[in-house]
Amino acid sequence: MDQKTERLLDWYDRNARSMPWRGERDPYRIWVSEIMLQQTRVETVTGYYDRFLRTFPTLRSLAEAAEEDVLKQWEGLGYYSRARNLRSGAEQVLREYGGRIPSDPAELRRIRGIGAYTAAAVASIAFGVRAAAVDGNVVRVISRLYGVEEDVTEREVRRRVERLADGLTPPERPGDHNQAMMDLGATVCVPGTPDCGACPLRGLCEAERNGNAPELPRASRAKPPREILFDLFLLYSGNRVLMRRRTEKLLEGMWCFPMAEGRKTPEERAGEIRKKWGWQPERTRFRGEAKHLFTHQIWRMALYEAEVPPGTEAPAGYEWIPLNGLGAVPLPAAVKAAAELARKRAEAGETIQSGEISRNYEKT
Ligand code: ADE
Repeated sequence: MDQKTERLLDWYDRNARSMPWRGERDPYRIWVSEIMLQQTRVETVTGYYDRFLRTFPTLRSLAEAAEEDVLKQWEGLGYYSRARNLRSGAEQVLREYGGRIPSDPAELRRIRGIGAYTAAAVASIAFGVRAAAVDGNVVRVISRLYGVEEDVTEREVRRRVERLADGLTPPERPGDHNQAMMDLGATVCVPGTPDCGACPLRGLCEAERNGNAPELPRASRAKPPREILFDLFLLYSGNRVLMRRRTEKLLEGMWCFPMAEGRKTPEERAGEIRKKWGWQPERTRFRGEAKHLFTHQIWRMALYEAEVPPGTEAPAGYEWIPLNGLGAVPLPAAVKAAAELARKRAEAGETIQSGEISRNYEKT
């Protein structure tokens, strides 16, 4: 075994972070953990992982679940297409592979939601297949270890990093090796200033030798996220609130409140609603601002509450959701502040504080 690999595995045996899926060999459970861990911190995933697997203990139970129930279990984790793809991927495995998750990375990649990274992670951890799982942490470790100085967002450079990672992966314990690389990237070879003094690869690392580890990997600047303004309305009919299940790609399948892009006065918005839906919200009051960061967008939402004439029918695509039933629909973290207002109303009965009506708008 290569000296680097040997030191890395030795370090892993002594320092592996404890995680609920460590030591797991069931490919279904490993698949779930790896999907949850995409773009999401280990500490965040830990709580979700156990709960998710209690609800969907087998691949079949997930394949046969309603998408909305799966999204509900994913609520707050973000990147909800992961959950929808995981469920349809499970369905695909049931249909095309008789419920047995394949061990070959090329076969794994045919499954919905499984890309190169997840295929290699599942194959190596669950089946001991020699395949390098290259995520952002591993790109950082590899580019420092081998002194890759070019821009890793360029396809050719990224390929080179992947080839180097492949070359480093041993036939023995490839799953542990991959997880050692991830742990090293998360705890020692961190972005910014790494802790080279604590690194098992000390003396074998090109960037350490060159003293430029903090500058690697080099990546051209990603575009800053686009800021979008919205006015969001909590429209109440008695103890129910108007909501819709999103069909847009962003947050598809999650439930949100009516929102309109831009910033307008409540009077203008009331006029728009009347024109569109034939009725007018009453007693509109501004309740503050909320902000949510996505990867490519920032939503800045002005939150309003208003009353809707009794007996109003929900417009097409919308539904009246009982305030005490908000817990039953999958709500994205993006509308958490808005949902909190609705919950407060549910707790307080239906009373509306007068004197709070509409005029605070200019303060934002
Ligand atoms: N990030 C993604 N998968 C991981 C794993 N199995 N261990 C540690 N970090 C990870």
